Amino acid sequence: EESALWDNFKRKHDYLRIALVEKCNFRCQYCMPEEGVELSPESKIISRDHINRILQIFTSVGVNKIRLTGGEPLLRKDIYDVIKDIRSYQQIRTIALTTNGSLLPKKIERLKEAGLNQINISLDTLVEAKNQFITRRPEGFKQTMAGIEKAIQLKFDAVKVNVVVMNGLNEDELCDFVEFVRERPIEVRFIEFMPFDANDWKNKKLLPYFEIRKRIQDKYELIRNEDPKTATSKTFSIPGHLGKIGFISSMSDHFCGGCNRLRMTADGNLKICLFDNRELNIRELIDQGMNNEEIIQQIRSHLEKKHFSHGGVDSILQRENRSMIRIGG
Ligand code: GTP
Ligand code: 5AD
Ligand code: SF4
Repeated sequence: EESALWDNFKRKHDYLRIALVEKCNFRCQYCMPEEGVELSPESKIISRDHINRILQIFTSVGVNKIRLTGGEPLLRKDIYDVIKDIRSYQQIRTIALTTNGSLLPKKIERLKEAGLNQINISLDTLVEAKNQFITRRPEGFKQTMAGIEKAIQLKFDAVKVNVVVMNGLNEDELCDFVEFVRERPIEVRFIEFMPFDANDWKNKKLLPYFEIRKRIQDKYELIRNEDPKTATSKTFSIPGHLGKIGFISSMSDHFCGGCNRLRMTADGNLKICLFDNRELNIRELIDQGMNNEEIIQQIRSHLEKKHFSHGGVDSILQRENRSMIRIGG
């Protein structure tokens, strides 16, 4: 306990998100402009060896859950080996993945065999043509849908669908997503649109949590579940539905008080908060030959700087941050 990664607000950080790549096969509107964004050169992306050092370091100070993100993490060639590596650390209880789902039909069996426990899949609309418009890619929709069905069949510990809600884009489909969980034992999470570099965030595109919930409650009875205090989402059951729904209210009702998350970017930088642009380059420390103890010292002093919360829209918009594709969500 004492050796764990505590910050100045008594938050224990035991959940590490590791971005495996920056690249993506989609071009989602809320993530980046049509032409894409400038990515790090391949030489700066963390190798499997870097990832193993990172795992050694973070499991020795209490991390017990790893989530793999990107970019699109399934574009990483050594993904199965990385998952097997993570599995070899007894301290890790959960290995999770956040993906756009397009490569799941091809890869999901092997991911399961390698030891993956949970999958979160991004799907912002149930209408194929609209999906093509949002992702700016023609083929994704069928593959992502097939990926979701396969994930359900393979009985992962959890399958969640992430829906970024945007005014004028998919706000008319809220109840369709509630129907989507009637016969499927999954969780659909409605996410408030958050500002990042180059994602053209506008307040008028944001549909706040309370409004989303109200529109759903006009048609459905929602029963609040008890969520862990570290959860990003407030979850609800619906009588007669196998699945659940959740709301991720990052902007209108932040959940920073329970934050237990740290992030490694694909280029090897530690982020103490999604919205904090001060980073610690751990890849460089490893390459310089620094030992684990020394790196842990640096991590602790970096974590000391963590603010209590992201500070709201105005303060987020004031600082320059990475684009979402280079953070991993
Ligand atoms: P679980 O482990 O299933 O709880 O996943 P998660 O919700 O932590 O991760 P996921 O990658 O599915 O992210 C879902 C949404 O929550 C995305 O929009 C993320 O950007 C957002 N999110 C995840 N962690 C944080 C966080 O620490 N702060 C904020 N503000 N948003 C977060
Ligand atoms: N606001 C909220 N969520 C976002 N995501 C990507 N960009 C944004 C944004 N601007 C979501 C993706 C994915 C998760 C990692 O973050 O849909 O599910
Ligand atoms: Fe944690 Fe920062 Fe997210 Fe708040 S915004 S929950 S402090 S990562």
